[in-house]
Parts: sequence; C-alpha cells; structure tokens
Amino acid sequence: MLRKLLRKKPLQNIHHAGLHRSLRAIDLTLMGIGAIIGAGVFVLTGVAAATKAGPAIVISYMIAGIASMFAALAYAELASSVGGTGSAYGYAYAGFGEFIAWLIGWNLLLEYIIAVSTVAIGWSGYVNNLLVSMHIALPSALVNDPFEGGIINLLAILIVTAISVLLSIGIKHSARFNAVIVIIKLITIAVFIAAAISHVNFKNWESFSPFGWSGVMGGAALVFFAYIGFDALSTAVEETINPKRDIPIGIISSLVICTLIYIVVSALLTLITPYYNLNVQSPVADALLQLGNNGAAGVVAAGAIAGLTTVMLVMYYGLTRIVLAMSRDGLLPTSIATVNSTTHTPIRIIIILGIFIALIAGLSPIGRAAELVNIGTLAAFTFVCAGVIVLRITHPDLPRPFKTPFSPFIPVAGILSCLYLMISLPAVTWWRFIIWTLLGLIIYFVYGYKHSLIK
Ligand code: ALA
Repeated sequence: MLRKLLRKKPLQNIHHAGLHRSLRAIDLTLMGIGAIIGAGVFVLTGVAAATKAGPAIVISYMIAGIASMFAALAYAELASSVGGTGSAYGYAYAGFGEFIAWLIGWNLLLEYIIAVSTVAIGWSGYVNNLLVSMHIALPSALVNDPFEGGIINLLAILIVTAISVLLSIGIKHSARFNAVIVIIKLITIAVFIAAAISHVNFKNWESFSPFGWSGVMGGAALVFFAYIGFDALSTAVEETINPKRDIPIGIISSLVICTLIYIVVSALLTLITPYYNLNVQSPVADALLQLGNNGAAGVVAAGAIAGLTTVMLVMYYGLTRIVLAMSRDGLLPTSIATVNSTTHTPIRIIIILGIFIALIAGLSPIGRAAELVNIGTLAAFTFVCAGVIVLRITHPDLPRPFKTPFSPFIPVAGILSCLYLMISLPAVTWWRFIIWTLLGLIIYFVYGYKHSLIK
C-alpha cells in the first residue's frame, strides 16, 4: 500500500498533445496581471486596514509580496523544468509521489473553485451597484442567494456562464480579451494614483500600526489573497510557444508589477482616508468619493469590475488545466479528459466546472471565504518550494532553464514564510481546511487509489 501511495510519475510522462501552443511572454505577463489584481486590492485592502493592520497594511502587503516572490521563483523553476499542465499537482507527483500529489491537487481545486466563486459574487455586487446608479433595479430575489433572503444570484451565474463560453472558444481569444481588460484595469489604477496623490495627509499615518505585529501579520494573511493568481500561469506550459523561457518571465514580471502597485495603492489609500473609515465594500472608489472626486470614483468602480472579470477568467482557465491533468492520470474520471479537436480546449471539463461554480456563486453565501482560498494556496506554495529542494536531490541532472537563485535558502524561506502566514489565519479557516482535506482523503481512497493510471 505504501508503495502505491508513494508511486511517482516519470518526468517524461508529464506532457501530452492536444492543447494548442499560441501564448508568448507578453500574453503570459498580462494574464498574470489579469489573475492577480482583483478583489484583493479593490475590496480586501479596506477590511484589512480597518480591522487588522491599520496603515501598516503597507507592511502587510510587503510581507505577503515577499512570501509570494519566494514561491514564484520556485514555481518558475519547476514550470520550466518539470512542466506539465497540472502545475503544483504535477510537480508533487514527480517529487513526492501520488498521495501528496492528490492532496495538493485537491487543495488547488479548493483554491481555484472558491476564488472564482467569491470573485463572481464580488463582481455581481459591483455590477448591481452600477445598475442601481443607472436606475435599473433588478428584483432583490434575483441578486441575493437564498441565505441572504433571495432566490438566486443571477448576475454571478451570468458572468460564470459568459466566461465558460469564452474559455471554450479558445485560449488565444481568451488571452486577447484578457489583454484589453487588463489595460483598462491598469488605467483605472493610474487614475486612482493621480487623483489621490494631491490629497495625501500624513496625519492619517500618525497611528501607523494600531493593532501591533499580530495585526500586521493577520493583515498579511488576509491580503495574501491579492497575490494569488500568478500560479495559474504555470498551468499554461502546454499552450506556450517557448515555455522554458516565457513562463518564468510571465510569473516573475507580473508579480513584481503587481507588488509595486499594491504598495503604492495601499499607502495612498491609508494616507488619504483614516484607516477606520475603510471597512466598506468598495474602499478604493469610496475614498475618492469622500474626497469629492466623483468622476474618478466612477472610473475606479468600472475598473474594479474589469479587474474582477479577468481574475475569474485566468483562475477558471488554470482550474480547467489542473483538472485536465488530474483526470488524464486517472485520479479523476478519465472520461472527462478530452480536448476538443476544433477549439483545442477541454470543453467537457469547462462545462462541468462551470456548472459547479455557477451553483456555488449563485446559491451560497461564500463571498467572504477569501481566507479559505488563502490557506489552500499557501499549502500548495509550501509544497512547491519543498519540491525544488527534493527534485534537486533526486533529479540533479534535470535540465533547469530557470534556477531559483540561492537554493536552498530561497525555497526554505518560502516554506517558512508560507507556514507563518498559514498560522496567522483564524481558527475557523483551519477547521474548514481540515474538513476539506478529510473529504479529499475519502475521495482518494474510494476512487483515485484504484483508478490511477500510474502503476
Ligand atoms: N488575486 C486575486 C484577487 O485579488 C485572486 O482577486
């Protein structure tokens, strides 16, 4: 039994035909920015500053950014050397064996499904506000889930359906759509910076860290959500023209750009508004409204909608590729692992996942579960950092077009910082995570253990 749990996937079996190579470094960088900048900075910054860190949220952003950078370097090494569409799941299969790979894959499903669902709910909230401001009021039964007195969150279902159609048509179209929206998102952020800079008031930073170090770390564990998404790029290896060079470029450049943006935005936000006023649904737009700049506030609200759209697009994309890898290996039913020969996309998987996500987003009150996404992601990042160390020992001759610098120092620092962020999350998040993991164990022993194609 132990031998079966530890069976490893040979590295040459990680790649398959079927998907179509069309992505370049610029597409990947824009996809990375598309996945990264979203609900985290546009929504969570406010809650985290008001209730956890105060203006020291800037430090929280730096800490979460550094932990993400350690993990990003590890991802870049494994994506360019091991490759495969399964991302961390595939690396774990090669480095730690099937059982750990399943647990990582199962965690990635949690990360991506809940991320797309929560962002879809955030998106519907923003769009509904926009419609109300245009005097178009939808019946409240159709904009709230049953737990909040409604019947269904129709807007959330509509956006998930629209994105599944786009993803089914093909990755090149999805990447083009993403590029346009990412540019809108970046312009919006530039508008915020330009509007805020002349209203900076250093009095707002007089009580810089009102909740102390534990507040800073609690804030970092929450705003870590804002960095999630660069990992989705590592699932694009089989669709990138020159993956060994371009995946590391895409991962690292998108993360560096977003980290700088977050530090500037969180600093300006807390400098123009007292931190305790930021606990609102749309803090970035609200701060501009409080300054009386309604025009810029409108632009930022529209940019937030654009931002959330690309987060869903790229995260949903990554999710379908991970499920494709897991079903190709037999850990999920192989019958879904087909790639449509015309569109070169895994349409069956896109539709099945779309139904799941639409049901969660339309019917459940999961909109505030960002911390659950964080814990699953941090667990996966920890294993990716460990994977770099293990594979350097077990496969020293593997060609590594990109090498994590200062190994094993950086991967060890990555493991420690991800674990530190995990323990800074609330107990309720840990309980949910443990229940999800137990469910995964049951599914593995009932299904995957017997159906795995790796002997
Ligand atoms: N990083 C993504 C966001 O903030 C998940 O929405």
